[in-house]
Amino acid sequence: MKAIIFDLDGVICFTDEYHYLAWKQLADRLGIEFDRTINNRLRGVSRMASLEIILEKWHGEPFSQEQKEAFAAEKNDIYRESLKNMSPADLAPETKAALIELRNRGYKLAIGSSSKNTPFILGQIGLSGFFDAVSDGNNITRSKPDPEVFLKAAEFLGMEPAECLVVEDAVSGAEAGHAGGFKVACVGDAAQAGVGDWNMGSFTELLDICK
Ligand code: BG6
Ligand code: MG
Repeated sequence: MKAIIFDLDGVICFTDEYHYLAWKQLADRLGIEFDRTINNRLRGVSRMASLEIILEKWHGEPFSQEQKEAFAAEKNDIYRESLKNMSPADLAPETKAALIELRNRGYKLAIGSSSKNTPFILGQIGLSGFFDAVSDGNNITRSKPDPEVFLKAAEFLGMEPAECLVVEDAVSGAEAGHAGGFKVACVGDAAQAGVGDWNMGSFTELLDICK
């Protein structure tokens, strides 16, 4: 392996919790049942596809496309308010140290995230310009479990999928990695589901996988 492609939300930083809280606020306002188990299905999934999953529990008249777009914008506004409070202190010291060590070992490092907020988040946590390539929700048309975001990241790095390791916390993300021909190391929910080639207890275990 010559390169590592990291998911962002739930891998590099804990913005996955802010996604959950923002969707929860919207769901509560609409009177829709929503909990952390349903939330796990939103990991890695685009904003509009996430809304569709939440609306599976809506039993009233179907919403128009315009209403759905307004709901997604409402959630994103709540989410962006949380992001505004983030700073480089929200990047765990051990995560930052591991990223620097992996770079020193010669690996190219990239982001592969479904989020359109990726550039803003990287700026907030002090990682703007750190990665050799960033592939995110702004350069894809299909979100995970489609492999497009990781294939683009590999292309931006000038690498083949077989040369790259994908790091994910989402089951949909691990599926995307495998569908693209990548090996996948998982943390969090995806590690608990056991869907990775490696299922890690913490991010720093990458240092044992990528010698
Ligand atoms: C992924 C998150 O990284 O980005 C999903 O895991 C989220 O929960 C998706 O829906 C899209 O994010 P955004 O910031 O474009 O709404
Ligand atoms: Mg994630």
